[in-house]
Amino acid sequence: MASDTKPTTDLSKSVAFVERLPDNGLPWNDDGGIHKLPGPHMLKDKYPTKAHAVADFQNYAKDGHNIIFAEKIALHFANDTAINMVIPTVIFQRRPFVDDVVVVADARDAERVAKLHVKKSLIYGDISTFLGDGVLSTRNLESWQEQRTNLVEGFLPLASLANVMPISVQRANYAVDKRLRDMISKPVDICEFYLFEAMTQLHMALLGETTEFSEQHNVKLRQSFSTMLNGLSADVEAWKNSRNFIRNFSKQILEHVRDEKGDTVRSGPYRAQMTGCPVVGPVAAKLAENVPQCVSDPLAAQRDSASTISFAGFDTTALNMTWVTFEMCRRPELQRRLQAEIDSVYDSLNGRELQYSDLPRFEFLTKVINETLRLWTSVPNGTFRETQFEEWIEGLDGEKVKLSPGTQVWIPSFLLHRSEKLWGKDALEFNPDRKWLPEETWFGKSFGGFNPSSYRFAPFTFPPRGCIGMNFAQMESRVIISKLFREYTLEFAEPTKSKAMQAHTRENFLGYNRGTMMPAGGMWVVAKPRRAGASKI
Ligand code: HEM
Repeated sequence: MASDTKPTTDLSKSVAFVERLPDNGLPWNDDGGIHKLPGPHMLKDKYPTKAHAVADFQNYAKDGHNIIFAEKIALHFANDTAINMVIPTVIFQRRPFVDDVVVVADARDAERVAKLHVKKSLIYGDISTFLGDGVLSTRNLESWQEQRTNLVEGFLPLASLANVMPISVQRANYAVDKRLRDMISKPVDICEFYLFEAMTQLHMALLGETTEFSEQHNVKLRQSFSTMLNGLSADVEAWKNSRNFIRNFSKQILEHVRDEKGDTVRSGPYRAQMTGCPVVGPVAAKLAENVPQCVSDPLAAQRDSASTISFAGFDTTALNMTWVTFEMCRRPELQRRLQAEIDSVYDSLNGRELQYSDLPRFEFLTKVINETLRLWTSVPNGTFRETQFEEWIEGLDGEKVKLSPGTQVWIPSFLLHRSEKLWGKDALEFNPDRKWLPEETWFGKSFGGFNPSSYRFAPFTFPPRGCIGMNFAQMESRVIISKLFREYTLEFAEPTKSKAMQAHTRENFLGYNRGTMMPAGGMWVVAKPRRAGASKI
Protein backbone atom coordinates (compact mmCIF):
# COMPACT_ATOMS: atom_id res chain seq x y z
CA MET A 1 0.00 0.00 0.00
CA ALA A 2 1.63 3.19 -1.20
CA SER A 3 1.44 6.22 1.03
CA ASP A 4 0.49 8.34 -1.99
CA THR A 5 -3.12 9.37 -1.42
CA LYS A 6 -4.29 8.94 -5.02
CA PRO A 7 -6.52 5.83 -5.39
CA THR A 8 -4.88 2.75 -6.86
CA THR A 9 -8.04 1.17 -8.35
CA ASP A 10 -9.26 1.96 -11.88
CA LEU A 11 -12.23 4.38 -11.66
CA SER A 12 -14.15 3.05 -14.66
CA LYS A 13 -14.40 -0.47 -13.18
CA SER A 14 -15.72 0.92 -9.92
CA VAL A 15 -18.23 3.15 -11.72
CA ALA A 16 -19.64 0.10 -13.53
CA PHE A 17 -20.11 -1.67 -10.17
CA VAL A 18 -21.83 1.33 -8.55
CA GLU A 19 -24.16 1.90 -11.51
CA ARG A 20 -25.76 -1.50 -10.90
CA LEU A 21 -26.79 -0.66 -7.30
CA PRO A 22 -30.15 0.75 -6.17
CA ASP A 23 -29.95 4.39 -5.05
CA ASN A 24 -31.86 5.73 -2.03
CA GLY A 25 -30.41 9.23 -2.26
CA LEU A 26 -31.30 12.44 -4.11
CA PRO A 27 -31.00 12.66 -7.91
CA TRP A 28 -27.62 14.12 -8.89
CA ASN A 29 -29.15 17.27 -10.36
CA ASP A 30 -31.44 18.03 -7.42
CA ASP A 31 -30.06 21.08 -5.61
CA GLY A 32 -32.59 21.17 -2.74
CA GLY A 33 -32.74 19.37 0.62
CA ILE A 34 -29.42 18.03 1.89
CA HIS A 35 -27.86 18.88 -1.49
CA LYS A 36 -27.72 22.46 -0.15
CA LEU A 37 -24.72 21.16 1.80
CA PRO A 38 -21.44 21.13 -0.12
CA GLY A 39 -20.25 17.86 -1.61
CA PRO A 40 -19.19 16.11 -4.82
CA HIS A 41 -22.62 16.88 -6.41
CA MET A 42 -21.39 20.51 -6.66
CA LEU A 43 -18.31 19.37 -8.61
CA LYS A 44 -19.99 18.21 -11.80
CA ASP A 45 -16.86 18.76 -13.93
CA LYS A 46 -15.06 16.13 -11.90
CA TYR A 47 -18.09 13.96 -11.14
CA PRO A 48 -20.54 14.04 -14.12
CA THR A 49 -22.70 11.32 -12.47
CA LYS A 50 -23.30 10.19 -8.92
CA ALA A 51 -21.68 6.84 -9.76
CA HIS A 52 -18.39 8.66 -10.50
CA ALA A 53 -18.40 10.31 -7.08
CA VAL A 54 -19.37 7.13 -5.24
CA ALA A 55 -16.75 5.12 -7.13
CA ASP A 56 -14.00 7.66 -6.42
CA PHE A 57 -14.90 7.68 -2.73
CA GLN A 58 -14.97 3.85 -2.64
CA ASN A 59 -11.53 3.74 -4.24
CA TYR A 60 -10.11 6.13 -1.67
CA ALA A 61 -11.74 3.99 1.04
CA LYS A 62 -10.20 0.80 -0.39
CA ASP A 63 -6.77 2.40 0.02
CA GLY A 64 -7.58 3.40 3.62
CA HIS A 65 -8.07 7.05 2.66
CA ASN A 66 -11.82 7.72 2.93
CA ILE A 67 -10.99 10.47 5.43
CA ILE A 68 -8.51 12.08 3.03
CA PHE A 69 -11.27 12.17 0.40
CA ALA A 70 -13.61 13.92 2.86
CA GLU A 71 -10.84 16.29 3.88
CA LYS A 72 -10.14 17.26 0.26
CA ILE A 73 -13.83 18.00 -0.39
CA ALA A 74 -14.07 20.13 2.77
CA LEU A 75 -10.92 22.08 1.94
CA HIS A 76 -12.17 22.74 -1.57
CA PHE A 77 -15.33 24.42 -0.30
CA ALA A 78 -14.29 26.02 2.97
CA ASN A 79 -10.51 26.02 3.26
CA ASP A 80 -11.05 24.19 6.52
CA THR A 81 -11.90 20.61 7.49
CA ALA A 82 -14.59 21.20 10.14
CA ILE A 83 -17.66 21.69 7.95
CA ASN A 84 -20.85 19.77 7.17
CA MET A 85 -21.07 18.05 3.78
CA VAL A 86 -22.88 15.33 1.93
CA ILE A 87 -21.04 12.40 0.34
CA PRO A 88 -22.88 9.61 -1.52
CA THR A 89 -21.58 6.15 -0.68
CA VAL A 90 -22.28 2.43 -0.90
CA ILE A 91 -23.96 1.00 2.18
CA PHE A 92 -23.03 -2.67 2.52
CA GLN A 93 -26.08 -4.59 3.68
CA ARG A 94 -27.24 -8.02 2.49
CA ARG A 95 -28.18 -6.10 -0.68
CA PRO A 96 -25.78 -3.14 -1.02
CA PHE A 97 -27.24 0.20 -2.06
CA VAL A 98 -26.16 3.80 -2.56
CA ASP A 99 -27.27 6.50 -0.12
CA ASP A 100 -26.36 10.10 0.68
CA VAL A 101 -24.39 10.24 3.91
CA VAL A 102 -24.34 13.55 5.72
CA VAL A 103 -20.90 14.31 7.14
CA VAL A 104 -21.38 16.34 10.31
CA ALA A 105 -18.04 17.99 11.06
CA ASP A 106 -19.13 21.47 12.08
CA ALA A 107 -17.94 21.19 15.68
CA ARG A 108 -21.09 22.31 17.50
CA ASP A 109 -23.35 20.23 15.25
CA ALA A 110 -21.09 17.17 15.60
CA GLU A 111 -21.22 17.25 19.40
CA ARG A 112 -24.99 17.82 19.54
CA VAL A 113 -25.92 15.22 16.92
CA ALA A 114 -23.66 12.54 18.45
CA LYS A 115 -25.06 13.19 21.94
CA LEU A 116 -28.71 13.17 20.90
CA HIS A 117 -28.89 10.55 18.16
CA VAL A 118 -27.46 7.41 19.70
CA LYS A 119 -28.90 4.98 17.16
CA LYS A 120 -26.15 3.45 15.03
CA SER A 121 -26.20 3.86 11.24
CA LEU A 122 -26.81 1.16 8.63
CA ILE A 123 -23.17 1.75 7.65
CA TYR A 124 -22.16 -0.79 10.34
CA GLY A 125 -23.75 -3.48 8.14
CA ASP A 126 -20.43 -5.20 7.44
CA ILE A 127 -19.22 -5.33 11.04
CA SER A 128 -22.61 -6.34 12.38
CA THR A 129 -22.19 -9.60 10.42
CA PHE A 130 -19.83 -10.69 13.21
CA LEU A 131 -20.61 -8.29 16.08
CA GLY A 132 -24.38 -8.66 15.63
CA ASP A 133 -26.43 -7.21 18.48
CA GLY A 134 -23.34 -6.59 20.60
CA VAL A 135 -23.03 -3.25 22.39
CA LEU A 136 -21.11 -1.42 19.62
CA SER A 137 -23.20 -2.27 16.59
CA THR A 138 -26.71 -2.93 17.90
CA ARG A 139 -29.40 -0.63 16.50
CA ASN A 140 -31.80 -1.78 19.19
CA LEU A 141 -31.59 1.05 21.72
CA GLU A 142 -33.23 -0.83 24.57
CA SER A 143 -30.71 -3.61 24.23
CA TRP A 144 -27.82 -1.16 23.90
CA GLN A 145 -28.86 0.62 27.12
CA GLU A 146 -29.16 -2.65 29.03
CA GLN A 147 -25.79 -3.97 27.82
CA ARG A 148 -24.03 -0.69 28.40
CA THR A 149 -25.39 -0.26 31.96
CA ASN A 150 -24.27 -3.75 32.81
CA LEU A 151 -20.80 -3.53 31.23
CA VAL A 152 -19.89 -0.12 32.60
CA GLU A 153 -19.26 -1.62 36.06
CA GLY A 154 -16.45 -3.74 34.67
CA PHE A 155 -14.59 -0.59 33.64
CA LEU A 156 -14.92 1.42 36.88
CA PRO A 157 -11.58 3.08 37.65
CA LEU A 158 -11.23 2.21 41.33
CA ALA A 159 -13.51 -0.81 41.76
CA SER A 160 -12.12 -2.61 38.70
CA LEU A 161 -9.16 -1.03 36.95
CA ALA A 162 -7.03 -0.19 39.98
CA ASN A 163 -7.46 -3.82 41.07
CA VAL A 164 -6.40 -5.37 37.78
CA MET A 165 -3.54 -2.96 37.21
CA PRO A 166 -0.99 -5.37 38.80
CA ILE A 167 -1.76 -7.81 35.95
CA SER A 168 -1.25 -5.04 33.43
CA VAL A 169 2.08 -4.03 35.02
CA GLN A 170 3.29 -7.63 35.24
CA ARG A 171 2.51 -8.22 31.57
CA ALA A 172 4.13 -4.94 30.47
CA ASN A 173 7.29 -5.90 32.39
CA TYR A 174 7.39 -9.27 30.67
CA ALA A 175 6.64 -7.77 27.25
CA VAL A 176 9.41 -5.17 27.44
CA ASP A 177 12.01 -7.11 29.43
CA LYS A 178 11.62 -10.38 27.60
CA ARG A 179 9.67 -10.18 24.32
CA LEU A 180 11.12 -6.89 23.11
CA ARG A 181 14.62 -7.78 24.30
CA ASP A 182 14.48 -10.93 22.18
CA MET A 183 13.60 -8.86 19.12
CA ILE A 184 16.03 -5.98 19.31
CA SER A 185 18.97 -7.41 17.44
CA LYS A 186 17.28 -6.12 14.28
CA PRO A 187 14.61 -3.52 13.36
CA VAL A 188 11.20 -4.22 14.86
CA ASP A 189 7.70 -3.40 13.59
CA ILE A 190 6.65 -1.83 16.86
CA CYS A 191 3.04 -1.63 15.67
CA GLU A 192 2.86 -5.44 15.57
CA PHE A 193 4.43 -5.58 19.05
CA TYR A 194 1.78 -3.22 20.46
CA LEU A 195 -1.06 -5.05 18.68
CA PHE A 196 0.02 -8.33 20.25
CA GLU A 197 0.43 -6.77 23.67
CA ALA A 198 -2.81 -4.78 23.68
CA MET A 199 -4.80 -7.91 22.83
CA THR A 200 -2.98 -9.89 25.53
CA GLN A 201 -3.45 -7.14 28.14
CA LEU A 202 -7.15 -6.99 27.36
CA HIS A 203 -7.63 -10.73 27.73
CA MET A 204 -5.52 -11.09 30.85
CA ALA A 205 -6.53 -7.98 32.78
CA LEU A 206 -10.15 -7.41 31.78
CA LEU A 207 -11.26 -10.90 30.87
CA GLY A 208 -9.20 -12.76 33.48
CA GLU A 209 -7.55 -15.15 31.03
CA THR A 210 -4.26 -16.93 31.54
CA THR A 211 -1.08 -15.94 29.69
CA GLU A 212 -1.13 -19.23 27.77
CA PHE A 213 -4.73 -18.89 26.58
CA SER A 214 -4.26 -15.23 25.64
CA GLU A 215 -1.01 -15.75 23.76
CA GLN A 216 -2.21 -18.91 22.05
CA HIS A 217 -5.27 -17.23 20.48
CA ASN A 218 -3.77 -13.79 19.89
CA VAL A 219 -2.57 -13.92 16.28
CA LYS A 220 -5.44 -16.06 14.94
CA LEU A 221 -8.05 -13.86 16.60
CA ARG A 222 -6.54 -10.71 15.10
CA GLN A 223 -6.31 -12.35 11.68
CA SER A 224 -9.95 -13.41 11.97
CA PHE A 225 -11.09 -9.86 12.70
CA SER A 226 -9.05 -8.66 9.75
CA THR A 227 -10.65 -11.24 7.44
CA MET A 228 -14.11 -10.16 8.59
CA LEU A 229 -13.27 -6.55 7.75
CA ASN A 230 -12.38 -7.61 4.20
CA GLY A 231 -16.04 -8.56 3.79
CA LEU A 232 -17.87 -11.60 2.57
CA SER A 233 -17.07 -11.07 -1.10
CA ALA A 234 -13.29 -11.47 -0.69
CA ASP A 235 -13.09 -15.17 0.29
CA VAL A 236 -16.26 -16.83 1.55
CA GLU A 237 -14.55 -19.88 3.13
CA ALA A 238 -12.02 -17.74 5.01
CA TRP A 239 -14.86 -15.46 6.11
CA LYS A 240 -16.90 -18.35 7.54
CA ASN A 241 -13.89 -19.90 9.29
CA SER A 242 -13.01 -16.57 10.84
CA ARG A 243 -16.54 -15.95 12.05
CA ASN A 244 -16.62 -19.40 13.66
CA PHE A 245 -13.23 -18.87 15.28
CA ILE A 246 -14.36 -15.55 16.80
CA ARG A 247 -17.63 -17.09 18.04
CA ASN A 248 -15.88 -20.07 19.62
CA PHE A 249 -13.31 -17.85 21.25
CA SER A 250 -16.02 -15.67 22.80
CA LYS A 251 -17.96 -18.70 24.03
CA GLN A 252 -14.83 -19.91 25.81
CA ILE A 253 -14.35 -16.50 27.43
CA LEU A 254 -17.89 -16.75 28.84
CA GLU A 255 -17.42 -20.36 29.98
CA HIS A 256 -14.13 -19.68 31.76
CA VAL A 257 -15.81 -17.19 34.06
CA ARG A 258 -18.34 -19.70 35.39
CA ASP A 259 -17.61 -22.18 38.16
CA GLU A 260 -18.60 -25.88 38.24
CA LYS A 261 -22.18 -24.94 39.20
CA GLY A 262 -22.49 -22.57 36.26
CA ASP A 263 -22.55 -19.48 38.51
CA THR A 264 -20.58 -16.43 37.51
CA VAL A 265 -17.51 -15.95 39.66
CA ARG A 266 -16.12 -12.49 40.07
CA SER A 267 -13.14 -13.38 42.22
CA GLY A 268 -12.72 -17.13 42.33
CA PRO A 269 -10.10 -17.96 44.98
CA TYR A 270 -8.29 -20.29 42.58
CA ARG A 271 -7.85 -17.68 39.88
CA ALA A 272 -7.10 -14.96 42.39
CA GLN A 273 -4.39 -17.16 43.85
CA MET A 274 -2.91 -17.71 40.40
CA THR A 275 -2.80 -14.06 39.49
CA GLY A 276 -2.34 -12.45 42.89
CA CYS A 277 -5.18 -10.13 42.00
CA PRO A 278 -8.37 -9.68 44.07
CA VAL A 279 -10.64 -8.88 41.10
CA VAL A 280 -10.30 -11.27 38.20
CA GLY A 281 -11.73 -10.64 34.77
CA PRO A 282 -14.18 -7.89 35.77
CA VAL A 283 -15.47 -7.40 32.22
CA ALA A 284 -15.77 -11.14 31.51
CA ALA A 285 -17.81 -11.45 34.71
CA LYS A 286 -20.18 -8.68 33.60
CA LEU A 287 -20.53 -10.26 30.15
CA ALA A 288 -21.35 -13.63 31.67
CA GLU A 289 -23.79 -12.21 34.23
CA ASN A 290 -26.06 -10.54 31.72
CA VAL A 291 -28.03 -12.14 28.89
CA PRO A 292 -29.26 -9.19 26.80
CA GLN A 293 -33.05 -9.07 26.54
CA CYS A 294 -35.24 -7.43 23.89
CA VAL A 295 -33.31 -8.99 20.98
CA SER A 296 -34.37 -11.96 18.89
CA ASP A 297 -31.44 -14.17 19.99
CA PRO A 298 -30.28 -13.20 23.52
CA LEU A 299 -27.49 -15.80 23.77
CA ALA A 300 -26.06 -14.76 20.41
CA ALA A 301 -26.15 -11.11 21.53
CA GLN A 302 -24.27 -12.06 24.71
CA ARG A 303 -21.60 -13.89 22.71
CA ASP A 304 -21.39 -11.00 20.21
CA SER A 305 -20.94 -8.51 23.03
CA ALA A 306 -17.96 -10.59 24.20
CA SER A 307 -16.57 -10.53 20.63
CA THR A 308 -17.15 -6.76 20.58
CA ILE A 309 -14.90 -6.23 23.59
CA SER A 310 -12.05 -8.17 21.93
CA PHE A 311 -12.62 -6.36 18.63
CA ALA A 312 -12.90 -2.80 19.98
CA GLY A 313 -10.36 -3.07 22.76
CA PHE A 314 -6.99 -3.85 21.21
CA ASP A 315 -5.95 -2.04 18.01
CA THR A 316 -7.45 1.26 19.19
CA THR A 317 -5.01 1.39 22.12
CA ALA A 318 -2.18 -0.32 20.23
CA LEU A 319 -2.35 2.30 17.50
CA ASN A 320 -2.35 5.13 19.97
CA MET A 321 0.90 3.71 21.39
CA THR A 322 2.25 3.20 17.85
CA TRP A 323 1.71 6.83 16.87
CA VAL A 324 3.09 8.04 20.23
CA THR A 325 6.24 6.07 19.39
CA PHE A 326 6.26 7.56 15.90
CA GLU A 327 6.23 11.11 17.23
CA MET A 328 8.85 10.31 19.89
CA CYS A 329 11.18 9.01 17.16
CA ARG A 330 10.47 12.02 14.96
CA ARG A 331 11.20 14.41 17.82
CA PRO A 332 14.10 13.01 19.94
CA GLU A 333 14.04 16.10 22.19
CA LEU A 334 10.45 15.24 23.18
CA GLN A 335 11.48 11.62 23.74
CA ARG A 336 14.21 12.77 26.15
CA ARG A 337 11.71 14.98 27.99
CA LEU A 338 9.31 12.04 28.27
CA GLN A 339 12.07 9.78 29.57
CA ALA A 340 13.06 12.37 32.17
CA GLU A 341 9.49 12.41 33.51
CA ILE A 342 9.24 8.61 33.45
CA ASP A 343 12.57 8.29 35.29
CA SER A 344 11.49 10.74 37.96
CA VAL A 345 8.23 8.83 38.60
CA TYR A 346 9.89 5.38 38.59
CA ASP A 347 12.84 6.49 40.72
CA SER A 348 10.45 7.73 43.39
CA LEU A 349 8.76 4.32 43.69
CA ASN A 350 11.70 2.91 45.70
CA GLY A 351 11.49 -0.45 44.00
CA ARG A 352 7.74 -1.00 44.26
CA GLU A 353 5.63 -1.48 41.13
CA LEU A 354 3.57 1.26 39.52
CA GLN A 355 0.05 1.69 40.96
CA TYR A 356 -3.12 3.31 39.65
CA SER A 357 -2.70 6.30 41.94
CA ASP A 358 0.74 7.02 40.36
CA LEU A 359 -0.68 7.52 36.86
CA PRO A 360 -1.74 11.18 37.15
CA ARG A 361 1.93 12.02 37.80
CA PHE A 362 2.69 11.37 34.14
CA GLU A 363 1.74 14.91 33.19
CA PHE A 364 3.84 15.22 30.05
CA LEU A 365 2.98 11.67 28.95
CA THR A 366 -0.68 12.64 29.27
CA LYS A 367 -0.13 15.59 26.93
CA VAL A 368 1.74 13.36 24.48
CA ILE A 369 -1.03 10.74 24.49
CA ASN A 370 -3.69 13.43 24.08
CA GLU A 371 -1.91 15.13 21.21
CA THR A 372 -1.50 11.73 19.54
CA LEU A 373 -5.20 11.02 20.00
CA ARG A 374 -5.82 14.33 18.25
CA LEU A 375 -3.39 14.27 15.32
CA TRP A 376 -3.23 10.50 14.77
CA THR A 377 -6.64 9.70 16.10
CA SER A 378 -7.04 5.91 16.44
CA VAL A 379 -10.65 5.88 15.19
CA PRO A 380 -10.66 8.61 12.54
CA ASN A 381 -14.21 7.80 11.40
CA GLY A 382 -15.47 8.74 14.88
CA THR A 383 -18.97 7.37 14.68
CA PHE A 384 -21.86 6.75 12.25
CA ARG A 385 -25.41 7.45 13.39
CA GLU A 386 -28.97 7.49 12.08
CA THR A 387 -31.01 10.55 12.99
CA GLN A 388 -33.92 9.60 15.24
CA PHE A 389 -35.81 12.85 14.76
CA GLU A 390 -35.59 16.00 12.64
CA GLU A 391 -32.28 17.91 12.97
CA TRP A 392 -31.02 21.23 11.61
CA ILE A 393 -27.36 21.70 10.81
CA GLU A 394 -25.16 24.50 9.47
CA GLY A 395 -24.92 24.92 5.70
CA LEU A 396 -22.02 26.57 3.91
CA ASP A 397 -23.38 30.10 3.98
CA GLY A 398 -24.86 29.87 7.50
CA GLU A 399 -28.28 28.75 6.23
CA LYS A 400 -29.67 25.87 8.33
CA VAL A 401 -30.24 22.60 6.47
CA LYS A 402 -32.83 20.06 7.61
CA LEU A 403 -32.00 16.39 8.18
CA SER A 404 -35.08 14.14 8.16
CA PRO A 405 -35.40 11.25 10.63
CA GLY A 406 -33.59 8.19 9.25
CA THR A 407 -30.71 10.18 7.68
CA GLN A 408 -27.36 8.33 7.70
CA VAL A 409 -24.80 10.55 9.42
CA TRP A 410 -21.01 10.37 9.69
CA ILE A 411 -19.28 12.29 12.54
CA PRO A 412 -15.54 11.96 11.76
CA SER A 413 -13.29 13.10 14.59
CA PHE A 414 -10.43 13.24 12.05
CA LEU A 415 -11.94 16.36 10.45
CA LEU A 416 -12.51 18.07 13.80
CA HIS A 417 -8.99 17.27 14.99
CA ARG A 418 -7.24 18.68 11.90
CA SER A 419 -9.19 21.92 11.60
CA GLU A 420 -7.15 25.14 11.64
CA LYS A 421 -10.30 27.02 12.63
CA LEU A 422 -10.50 24.94 15.82
CA TRP A 423 -6.81 24.38 16.63
CA GLY A 424 -4.92 27.21 14.98
CA LYS A 425 -2.37 27.37 12.16
CA ASP A 426 -0.30 24.54 13.63
CA ALA A 427 -3.19 22.05 13.47
CA LEU A 428 -1.10 19.57 11.47
CA GLU A 429 1.92 19.88 13.78
CA PHE A 430 2.53 17.61 16.77
CA ASN A 431 2.54 19.95 19.75
CA PRO A 432 1.79 18.34 23.13
CA ASP A 433 2.18 21.72 24.82
CA ARG A 434 -0.70 23.27 22.92
CA LYS A 435 -3.40 25.03 24.94
CA TRP A 436 -5.78 22.28 26.04
CA LEU A 437 -9.23 23.08 27.39
CA PRO A 438 -10.01 21.81 30.93
CA GLU A 439 -12.48 19.23 29.60
CA GLU A 440 -9.88 17.81 27.19
CA THR A 441 -7.39 16.50 29.73
CA TRP A 442 -6.62 15.96 33.42
CA PHE A 443 -3.63 18.25 33.90
CA GLY A 444 -2.06 15.95 36.45
CA LYS A 445 -5.20 15.55 38.55
CA SER A 446 -6.73 12.17 39.29
CA PHE A 447 -8.18 10.73 36.12
CA GLY A 448 -10.82 8.25 35.05
CA GLY A 449 -14.58 8.01 34.96
CA PHE A 450 -15.18 10.70 32.40
CA ASN A 451 -14.72 11.08 28.70
CA PRO A 452 -12.14 13.72 27.73
CA SER A 453 -13.99 15.46 24.95
CA SER A 454 -14.89 18.95 23.88
CA TYR A 455 -16.67 20.44 20.89
CA ARG A 456 -13.38 20.07 18.94
CA PHE A 457 -11.77 16.98 20.52
CA ALA A 458 -13.52 13.61 20.41
CA PRO A 459 -11.06 10.69 20.18
CA PHE A 460 -13.53 8.44 22.04
CA THR A 461 -16.47 10.18 20.34
CA PHE A 462 -19.13 11.79 22.54
CA PRO A 463 -21.10 10.44 25.53
CA PRO A 464 -23.47 8.72 26.16
CA ARG A 465 -22.46 6.33 23.33
CA GLY A 466 -18.76 7.08 23.54
CA CYS A 467 -16.05 4.53 24.19
CA ILE A 468 -16.72 2.32 27.19
CA GLY A 469 -13.10 1.15 27.42
CA MET A 470 -11.32 4.48 27.52
CA ASN A 471 -10.33 4.28 31.20
CA PHE A 472 -8.68 0.95 30.57
CA ALA A 473 -6.94 2.31 27.47
CA GLN A 474 -5.65 5.30 29.45
CA MET A 475 -4.25 3.02 32.13
CA GLU A 476 -2.77 0.47 29.77
CA SER A 477 -1.04 2.94 27.47
CA ARG A 478 0.63 4.68 30.43
CA VAL A 479 1.80 1.36 31.87
CA ILE A 480 3.28 0.06 28.59
CA ILE A 481 4.69 3.33 27.22
CA SER A 482 6.32 4.29 30.53
CA LYS A 483 7.93 0.87 30.91
CA LEU A 484 9.16 0.82 27.30
CA PHE A 485 10.69 4.29 27.28
CA ARG A 486 12.15 3.71 30.74
CA GLU A 487 14.18 0.83 29.30
CA TYR A 488 14.80 1.85 25.69
CA THR A 489 15.47 4.77 23.40
CA LEU A 490 13.72 4.26 20.10
CA GLU A 491 14.86 5.42 16.65
CA PHE A 492 13.34 4.97 13.22
CA ALA A 493 14.45 2.17 10.93
CA GLU A 494 13.65 1.75 7.23
CA PRO A 495 11.22 1.79 5.53
CA THR A 496 9.49 4.10 8.07
CA LYS A 497 12.56 6.35 8.40
CA SER A 498 12.42 7.74 4.84
CA LYS A 499 8.70 8.49 5.09
CA ALA A 500 8.58 9.93 8.58
CA MET A 501 9.16 13.63 8.01
CA GLN A 502 6.35 14.03 5.43
CA ALA A 503 4.03 11.43 6.96
CA HIS A 504 1.47 13.87 8.37
CA THR A 505 0.93 15.80 5.15
CA ARG A 506 -2.12 15.14 2.98
CA GLU A 507 -0.01 14.20 -0.02
CA ASN A 508 2.14 11.62 1.78
CA PHE A 509 -0.18 10.61 4.57
CA LEU A 510 1.12 7.52 6.36
CA GLY A 511 -2.20 6.65 8.04
CA TYR A 512 -4.25 3.81 6.58
CA ASN A 513 -7.83 3.80 7.85
CA ARG A 514 -9.65 0.49 8.21
CA GLY A 515 -11.91 1.72 10.99
CA THR A 516 -8.75 2.19 13.02
CA MET A 517 -5.75 4.08 11.66
CA MET A 518 -2.70 1.91 11.02
CA PRO A 519 0.67 3.12 9.72
CA ALA A 520 0.83 1.91 6.09
CA GLY A 521 3.65 -0.65 5.90
CA GLY A 522 4.11 -0.92 9.68
CA MET A 523 6.18 1.21 12.06
CA TRP A 524 9.83 0.14 11.92
CA VAL A 525 12.16 1.11 14.75
CA VAL A 526 15.34 0.04 16.50
CA ALA A 527 15.29 -0.11 20.29
CA LYS A 528 18.50 0.76 22.16
CA PRO A 529 18.80 -0.16 25.86
CA ARG A 530 19.20 2.99 27.96
CA ARG A 531 20.98 1.51 30.93
CA ALA A 532 23.52 -1.30 31.24
CA GLY A 533 21.65 -4.41 32.32
CA ALA A 534 18.32 -2.58 32.18
CA SER A 535 16.76 -5.06 29.82
CA LYS A 536 17.56 -8.17 31.87
CA ILE A 537 14.67 -10.08 33.40
C1 HEM B 1 -7.15 4.67 22.69
C2 HEM B 1 -8.03 3.69 22.75
C3 HEM B 1 -9.45 3.77 22.26
C4 HEM B 1 -10.04 4.67 21.43
C5 HEM B 1 -9.42 5.88 20.75
C6 HEM B 1 -11.43 4.28 21.30
C7 HEM B 1 -12.37 4.97 20.56
C8 HEM B 1 -13.70 4.59 20.44
C9 HEM B 1 -14.66 5.25 19.61
C10 HEM B 1 -14.39 6.45 18.72
C11 HEM B 1 -15.84 4.61 19.76
C12 HEM B 1 -17.14 4.89 19.01
C13 HEM B 1 -17.19 3.93 17.84
C14 HEM B 1 -18.41 4.03 17.01
O1 HEM B 1 -19.39 4.65 17.41
O2 HEM B 1 -18.37 3.47 15.90
C15 HEM B 1 -15.63 3.54 20.71
C16 HEM B 1 -16.63 2.69 21.14
C17 HEM B 1 -16.39 1.58 21.92
N1 HEM B 1 -15.19 1.20 22.47
FE1 HEM B 1 -13.44 2.20 22.32
N2 HEM B 1 -11.63 3.14 22.04
C18 HEM B 1 -10.46 2.80 22.64
C19 HEM B 1 -10.25 1.72 23.49
C20 HEM B 1 -11.19 0.80 23.85
C21 HEM B 1 -10.97 -0.31 24.74
C22 HEM B 1 -9.65 -0.62 25.44
C23 HEM B 1 -12.16 -1.01 24.81
C24 HEM B 1 -12.49 -2.26 25.60
C25 HEM B 1 -11.69 -2.89 26.39
C26 HEM B 1 -13.13 -0.32 23.98
C27 HEM B 1 -14.44 -0.71 23.83
C28 HEM B 1 -15.39 0.01 23.14
C29 HEM B 1 -16.79 -0.39 23.03
C30 HEM B 1 -17.42 -1.65 23.61
C31 HEM B 1 -17.44 0.60 22.28
C32 HEM B 1 -18.92 0.68 21.92
C33 HEM B 1 -19.63 1.50 23.00
C34 HEM B 1 -21.12 1.68 22.75
O3 HEM B 1 -21.58 1.64 21.61
O4 HEM B 1 -21.81 1.93 23.74
N3 HEM B 1 -12.50 0.77 23.42
N4 HEM B 1 -14.31 3.54 21.11
